[in-house]
Amino acid sequence: MDRRKKIIIDTDCGSDDAMAIAMALNDRAYEIIMCVAVSGNVHVDQAALNTLTTIEYAKTYEPPVYKGCDKMLLKELIYAHETHGNDGMGDIGLAPQHLKVQEGNGVLKMLDTLRASEEGEIDIVALGPLTNIALAIRLDYEAMKKAGRIVIMGTAGLGVGNVTPVAEFNIWQDAEAAKIVVESGLEKIIFVGWDACLGDSMLNSQEIEKIRTGSELGKFAIDCNRCLLEMNRERFGDNYLDMADPSAMAAALYPECIDQCEKYYCEVDVSNGPSYGSVLVDSNFFSGKEPNVYICSKLDARKYKEYIYKTLNVN
Ligand code: RIB
Ligand code: CA
Repeated sequence: MDRRKKIIIDTDCGSDDAMAIAMALNDRAYEIIMCVAVSGNVHVDQAALNTLTTIEYAKTYEPPVYKGCDKMLLKELIYAHETHGNDGMGDIGLAPQHLKVQEGNGVLKMLDTLRASEEGEIDIVALGPLTNIALAIRLDYEAMKKAGRIVIMGTAGLGVGNVTPVAEFNIWQDAEAAKIVVESGLEKIIFVGWDACLGDSMLNSQEIEKIRTGSELGKFAIDCNRCLLEMNRERFGDNYLDMADPSAMAAALYPECIDQCEKYYCEVDVSNGPSYGSVLVDSNFFSGKEPNVYICSKLDARKYKEYIYKTLNVN
C-alpha cells in the first residue's frame, strides 16, 4: 500500500520553482501525481519544459507534466526574465533530454484527477500565478472542494511586496485570479508570503556553496538560479538567495518548519491604481469579517534549511 501523500504541483517553473520541485521529488513521504504549468515567470511552454528538465535532473520518478493557461485572466503578461533569465533557468543551456509534455489541458486533467479522488486525498501546491487554480474553481467547484490543502506561494504575507511596494509577483501577475481563489470559500487555502523566505530564511553565501557543492541536484538547483544570484549580489553586495517557492514547498511538505501561520480575512486589490495585486491581510481583525485564508509569514530558518539540504541530497 503506497502511503505517500499525493500532491499536484501548479508551476510557472522559473528557477526557484525548479529548486522547490526538485525538493518535492526527493521527499519520500509525498508523490507528485502531476505537474501543471502556467505562464508567469516565463511562457507556459517554457515553464513546462523547465519542469521536465527539473524532473530529469532529480532522477527519482517522472510525474506527467501538462500545460495549463498561457494567458492571465485579464492582465497582460509581464515575464520575470530579469530575475530568472529569458529561459527562466538562468540561461545556462538547460533543456529536457527525453521527457515530453503530455497532451491535453492541464486544468481539465487536474479536475478529472480530483473528481476521481477521495476527499482530502490530494493536496495542491501552487507556485505561480493563480490562473489555473481560479479557472479550476470556476469550472468545477465540487471537484476543487475534494482537494486537501491548497498551499500557495503568494502575497507579501505580513511584509512588503517584491514587484511593487505592496504586491508580490504571483498575485500581481493575475490579481483577478487570486481574487477568485481568496473569495472561493475553500476551507484550507494557505498562502506562504514573500516574507517567509526573507531574513534568517535567506540562503547566505556559505549555505549556497554548501548546496552547490553538496550534490549533483544541489548544483543544478543553485546553477539555474544564476540570474537571481547575480541580481542579489548587486542588491546586497554578497551572495544571497531569497527562495520563495522552496519556502512554500517546505511549508507544504514539512509543516513542522512553520513558525507563524494564522487565518485572517484577506482581500485582493484588483483596482487599476498603484496597489493593484496587493492583498489586504486583516491581521488586527478590524473588518469583523470571517477569516477566509491562512497566511504563513515566517518559517523556522534552521528547520527550513535542514529540509532543503535533506531534499537536495546535501549532507
Ligand atoms: O514572488 C515570487 C514568486 O513569483 C515565485 O513563485 C517566483 O517563481 C515567481 O513565480
Ligand atoms: Ca514560481
